[in-house]
Amino acid sequence: MPRFLPKAVVRIGDSFEAVKNKSLQRSNYNFIVIDNPAFSPYGCDYCEHFDLFPDVFSYLGESGVLVINIVYNIGLYTSELGRKIPQKWIDRRKKFYGISKDEEAIKPNPGKMVDVYENLISKGDFNIKNIFLVPRNLTMGHLVIALERNSKKRKI
Ligand SMILES: C[S@@+](CC[C@H](N)C(=O)[O-])C[C@H]1O[C@@H](n2cnc3c(N)ncnc32)[C@H](O)[C@@H]1O
Repeated sequence: MPRFLPKAVVRIGDSFEAVKNKSLQRSNYNFIVIDNPAFSPYGCDYCEHFDLFPDVFSYLGESGVLVINIVYNIGLYTSELGRKIPQKWIDRRKKFYGISKDEEAIKPNPGKMVDVYENLISKGDFNIKNIFLVPRNLTMGHLVIALERNSKKRKI
């Protein structure tokens, strides 16, 4: 890392805690990648990246890109791992994606998942410059959201 990114600052810790406690190094990032463990729950009962929202948006600068890994088929994902899907994971997905049926929460419509993230963005604070999903394989993809702040007033 120091060879390729000599100015990089590496912080090791619980990212969820850091985001919630506002203890990240900066408050105006232009590129945020959320590469969380997929299999959930993990750590302190975290589920995917759900607990980072909406706080993570406050860390974007005047403009920024957020990349999020989304799992659109946890059934296929867990079967490839030879594991059962924890019911808690399904229940958290139902709540986050606003879905009532287990089967749909296991394999939601990817377009509807994108809508959920889009609806999390405060339109008063941001203009959405672009939002698109880059499929990675049959189970997950990268959601890319490019945002621009509406006003220079920020609270963090
Ligand atoms: C999908 S991997 C990311 C891999 C990494 N982007 C890379 O390319 O090597 C998820 C990582 O998140 C870490 N992790 C798990 N819980 C975490 C937490 N609460 N805060 C920060 N990192 C965490 C795991 O240890 C794991 O290394």
